[in-house]
Amino acid sequence: MKDILQQLEDRRQTARLGGGPRRIEAQHAKGKLSARERIELLLDEGSFEEFDMFVAHRCIDFGMQADRPAGDGVVTGWGTINGRLVYVFSQDFTVMGGSVSETHGAKICKIMDMAIQNGAPVIGLNDSGGARIQEGVASLAAYGDVFQRNITASGVVPQISVIMGPCAGGAVYSPAMTDFIFMVKDSSYMFVTGPDVVKTVTNEVVTAEELGGALTHTRKSSVADAAFENDVEALIEVRRLVDFLPLSNRETPPVRPFFDDPARLEPSLDTLVPDNPNTPYDMKELILKLADEGDFYEIQTEFAKNIITGFIRLEGRTVGVVANQPMVLAGCLDIDSSRKAARFVRFCDAFEIPLLTLVDVPGFLPGTGQEYGGVIKHGAKLLYAYGEATVPKVTVITRKAYGGAYVVMASKHMGADFNYAWPTAEIAVMGSKGAVEILYRSELGDAEKTGARINEYEERFANPFVAAEKGFIDEVIMPQSTRKRVARAFASLRNKKLSNPWKKHDNIPL
Ligand code: HXC
Repeated sequence: MKDILQQLEDRRQTARLGGGPRRIEAQHAKGKLSARERIELLLDEGSFEEFDMFVAHRCIDFGMQADRPAGDGVVTGWGTINGRLVYVFSQDFTVMGGSVSETHGAKICKIMDMAIQNGAPVIGLNDSGGARIQEGVASLAAYGDVFQRNITASGVVPQISVIMGPCAGGAVYSPAMTDFIFMVKDSSYMFVTGPDVVKTVTNEVVTAEELGGALTHTRKSSVADAAFENDVEALIEVRRLVDFLPLSNRETPPVRPFFDDPARLEPSLDTLVPDNPNTPYDMKELILKLADEGDFYEIQTEFAKNIITGFIRLEGRTVGVVANQPMVLAGCLDIDSSRKAARFVRFCDAFEIPLLTLVDVPGFLPGTGQEYGGVIKHGAKLLYAYGEATVPKVTVITRKAYGGAYVVMASKHMGADFNYAWPTAEIAVMGSKGAVEILYRSELGDAEKTGARINEYEERFANPFVAAEKGFIDEVIMPQSTRKRVARAFASLRNKKLSNPWKKHDNIPL
């Protein structure tokens, strides 16, 4: 009996070593942790339960039967993050470069099926040389099976991908279909075709880092949501993100203890908006002052900075925030900001996370670049996302809300439940100068007359009261009371029940 127990321990010990000490050392030398070290950091101490530790591949080509490492290059299982269930897979680069075989794929599918069935997030730690070359199409089929599960799980359980090494070719499409992608600076990359193929086909010379590194994907392509300095930081941030999210679409987000008075007044907000309507101010200041304990988890910080997206808590409950940022492009909506915000709004709606929208938007960004790039279709994504969202929606207009952008940004007309405006709000078809130039074109040579017309237009429209008279704004509120008003509004909406008519699925303008 003792021998058998010892055998189990020995087998476990061998499996835990993956590709062996030499390869683990090589992994460390690259500044990367091993697959198991990553899981240990990600999950609560001692909470990891492993599946399929002894699974081995079944390939007999290229002499592969002589090398059948236990676990087959991926560690899978479940555990907890701050006491809440999550499923995890962590590719082990020390075993055949973390390459995906038929059995490696099947291990990932098993935990994804469990996650969907039991209603808990899937976290994938990716570090892989791609399809296991020796297995050919069996490996491609394994990817296909994972893709199918990514799609099935989408909107059912949160899916988070962390790219911690290579992720190339068709392999990128699994993370691409998950809700959030984090990358580690300098040690991870994602691309469909690598630098060598790029050079051959287009004659462009580019490094792997330039083509698909963490900075490229968080600043240029927006494929990734955040970039971190190293494995440890990335994993800690995944833990922080999971704390904001519900386990599945069958649950509401967790309620955390809070120590911040929901009725807290912030007198400094009364002077946040400058006297000159063309002077920018930092919308993040408002977000931080609204949030419980000033805790804001920003998503896509480095991309389309003219719109801010992320999570806060109010009375301990998660709220998704979308806010125009007057500091960048005057807070205009454009292709990138519309896409960024639309995806965020849809994530929140899928997982019953209420939406807070903070508006200071002078309109859509003009230009051929925008029109040729399809700003009509991309802007429609945000409009569509807000209109179809059935979660509680609270909107605060701080300053400009002009034209189509006013309607898009969670206006009353898009089904928002509470629409507040600060006294500094200007809700109009356009700014006063532009309006006068169109309405009184014949008087444009006369500066005095034009000035008087601008004043007249400003007096009539550069305020929240015309909209308030029509009931499009529910209340004009003191800026300092915004946290209290918004927290009370969301509290009153906790039992909101709204559903759109049945359809197979919608046809959002993709
Ligand atoms: C089998 C692989 C492998 C693979 C790496 N290895 N990739 N084994 N299939 N795809 C093995 C290596 O033979 C080596 O084994 C070990 O992993 C480490 O690899 P190295 O090359 O020594 O590491 P490094 O120098 O860090 O380079 C990593 C790498 C390189 C850039 C990922 O290994 C590489 O280019 N691999 C091939 C990538 C590729 O073309 N994959 C297929 C892409 S197509 P030993 O025994 O020496 O330690 C694809 C399609 C997916 O993935 C489609 C989905 C639909």
